[in-house]
Amino acid sequence: MSLGPVTRGRSMLHSPMPGVFAVDSDIDQNCSDRSFKDIVGESPALKAALTKVQRVAPTGSTVLVLGETGTGKELIARAIHNLSDRCRRPFVKLNCAAIPSDLLESELFGHEKGAFTGALTQRIGRFETAHTGTLFLDEIGDLPLSLQPKLLRVLQEREFERLGGTRTHQIDVRLVAATHRDLTEMVNRGQFRSDLYYRINVFPITVPPLRARPEDIPQLVQHFVDIYARRIGMQIDHIAKETMAAFQAYAWPGNIRELQNLVERSVILASNGELPNPLPPSDCIHVEASSGLGTFKESQRALILRALEACAWIIGGQRGAAAKLGLKRTTLITKMRYFGITRPGATFDTTWQSLSD
Ligand SMILES: Nc1ncnc2c1ncn2[C@@H]1O[C@H](COP(=O)(O)OP(=O)(O)O)[C@@H](O)[C@H]1O
Ligand SMILES: [Mg+2]
Repeated sequence: MSLGPVTRGRSMLHSPMPGVFAVDSDIDQNCSDRSFKDIVGESPALKAALTKVQRVAPTGSTVLVLGETGTGKELIARAIHNLSDRCRRPFVKLNCAAIPSDLLESELFGHEKGAFTGALTQRIGRFETAHTGTLFLDEIGDLPLSLQPKLLRVLQEREFERLGGTRTHQIDVRLVAATHRDLTEMVNRGQFRSDLYYRINVFPITVPPLRARPEDIPQLVQHFVDIYARRIGMQIDHIAKETMAAFQAYAWPGNIRELQNLVERSVILASNGELPNPLPPSDCIHVEASSGLGTFKESQRALILRALEACAWIIGGQRGAAAKLGLKRTTLITKMRYFGITRPGATFDTTWQSLSD
């Protein structure tokens, strides 16, 4: 997707294919494409996030990327690096949820030989590898409390020591952090330090869930069909209207990652050049009452929201949320007004306008 020229900073790194990034560190010598070419979608919700990316990328400021799993947080982090002055320098990624907590400190800061049992050689940590570049700390909400003061120190003082080492290393690293967790809630519960939260929450960017931008779905489906059909060596030249409608009606709890995988499955199963619909027709029907936690009013609101999301915010008709809830369309609309429920991304006014026609 293109949002026009970037006025400051350098250009965007070229990535061979969406989702194909170096796991560890990579330095691109090209740095020549300034558009968001790997990011598919034109919805206002996505554009709003990308406008923020363009704004913050050249500044070198810390960025906190928020959003549900599979929404494209890593792509956004990558774009921030690529649109910054650091694009020719390393982009180093560490998923805090994927490394056992007792190894995380050494992963981040490295260790000297003999620092602990099994430390047979000296090892450089991710901060050092990312020097002059960008460090992407994914799932930062999973960083153990015991490590949080150390991360705060390196961010504030720009210096650290390797485990078991005495020498202080100066470091120049831009941090981009991401999480699907609600960090303010974690701070309130004492699970995340407030000082670190304030330090990383300089410039938050929320990546919208796919159900808040169903208009992006046809483009995304076509994009992944092209990729997988080429990879498998299959020709797909027809996607039935009903199949695309089913893709757009589904709520995508796993967001773009889920869509990508379903399209891959669908391409494998294709015959006669037509993409089959991989979604069971009952996807809209799985709306159960909430777990019983909260008041009756809260449960009702949650149930209505879930039904609307599962039905892609279609209210009336056979496939609509009213039918799934066993309510009349007008009753559901009254309840939505009562609970102040509006479609994500829509203003209050536009939601009610579309309901009344
Ligand atoms: N707008 C998009 N256009 C194309 N591919 C996307 C887009 N958003 C996400 N993806 C793809 O979806 C998958 C999940 O994205 P990722 O950035 O890993 O999500 P997250 O980090 O939020 O879990 C990746 O393969 C990524 O390339
Ligand atoms: Mg991720």
